[in-house]
Amino acid sequence: MVGKIIKLDHEGNGIALIDNLVTFVPKTIPGDIVEIKIKEKKKNYQTAEVVKIITKSPLRISAFCPYYDSCGGCQLQNYEYPITLNYKKEKILNIFSKLNYALDPIIISNPCNKNYRNKIELKVQNKKIGFYEKKTNNMVEIEYCPITNVKINEIIPLLKKLEINNGNIILRVNKNNDILVIIDTLDKISCKVLEKNENIKGIILNKKLIWGESFLEEEINNIKYKIEYDAFFQVNPFITSTLFNLIKENISTNSKVLDLYCGVGAITLQVGSICKKALGIEIIPNAIKNALENKKLNNISNVNFCCGDVLKEIKKISNEYDTWIIDPPRKGLDKITIEILQKYLPTKIIYVSCNIHSLTRDLASILPNYEITKFYILDMFSYSHHVECLCILNKKLI
Ligand SMILES: C[S@@+](CC[C@H](N)C(=O)[O-])C[C@H]1O[C@@H](n2cnc3c(N)ncnc32)[C@H](O)[C@@H]1O
Repeated sequence: MVGKIIKLDHEGNGIALIDNLVTFVPKTIPGDIVEIKIKEKKKNYQTAEVVKIITKSPLRISAFCPYYDSCGGCQLQNYEYPITLNYKKEKILNIFSKLNYALDPIIISNPCNKNYRNKIELKVQNKKIGFYEKKTNNMVEIEYCPITNVKINEIIPLLKKLEINNGNIILRVNKNNDILVIIDTLDKISCKVLEKNENIKGIILNKKLIWGESFLEEEINNIKYKIEYDAFFQVNPFITSTLFNLIKENISTNSKVLDLYCGVGAITLQVGSICKKALGIEIIPNAIKNALENKKLNNISNVNFCCGDVLKEIKKISNEYDTWIIDPPRKGLDKITIEILQKYLPTKIIYVSCNIHSLTRDLASILPNYEITKFYILDMFSYSHHVECLCILNKKLI
């Protein structure tokens, strides 16, 4: 069966119309003419895989990753970088077409859009180390990952020497190239070989520190952070400071800020020097431990932190906070938080999102009372179909 790819879907898969049925064809791009095999047929759509590319789209370039064909990671490597940006902007415009808001140009990952990730999560299966293929548990063994930090990539061959049969490994790095190795496995292993590497600063095995330190230090816009191995930090250091600066630009001097899902206090501490006071809420105990340490480290006294589930803690919060910063996990906001937000109606909401679907859903609940004053798209996850959105909402004047 032969089809012509006419556009991309929201996850970067090509779409062809075969017998008038929408057919999703991963790893293809508009203009490709492809021979395909149908994998799954539903009433309104079908999915297919490429058997052969008959005619290549003029837009097509070779992927820079040797695992591109099998790995489920970056979907947009067959394009030049500027075209990936156009795609992302178009996608947001389509999704938010009803918002009637003119988007600014997408903010790029600068100076690098490769080797940017400061964290990699690897699977180990039958001694093979790598990633899963998209939507399967089939292993793609890798030697390195070209969107991940170079120093992290240097550690991957060392991991093979640990002879882990099955488990998970996370590698994290900071701007000084200090690395944490975080291993979860039921196998009996020795990590001695890692201790000799000059960049490795700590090894955590099954949630216990077994060598070195359990945290990294980072600095963004002159604010220093301690980040424990299990605490969140933004993954692309080439765009994080821009994201934080844009948030700061939207904070007013006398504001009282509530920072929901605050991690190690990354954003809370950035805005602390501008606002009157700020409170951060976060569920991971180590992240809150760091947030309190980071407050002292930076001598910022008008911020405070609370450890707990936003779902529960939000019920105890007073309505004194006129500015809410919301940077939730991928699933977005829960119903209770939205209900309380709708009750308190803070003057300003600064919503940071890495998932346009939950952002769209949450905005639909928030928007009747708010208007979007700014909508930034940041290319935090270059060459993947994901985008980081920063949405500034002001309460409507009635
Ligand atoms: C996208 S991160 C944002 C972190 C922070 N704003 C930053 O820039 O580093 C989301 C954070 O929400 C936390 N989190 C997830 N579910 C939560 C919940 N139910 N209540 C509180 N925090 C939660 C995660 O641990 C993570 O630190």
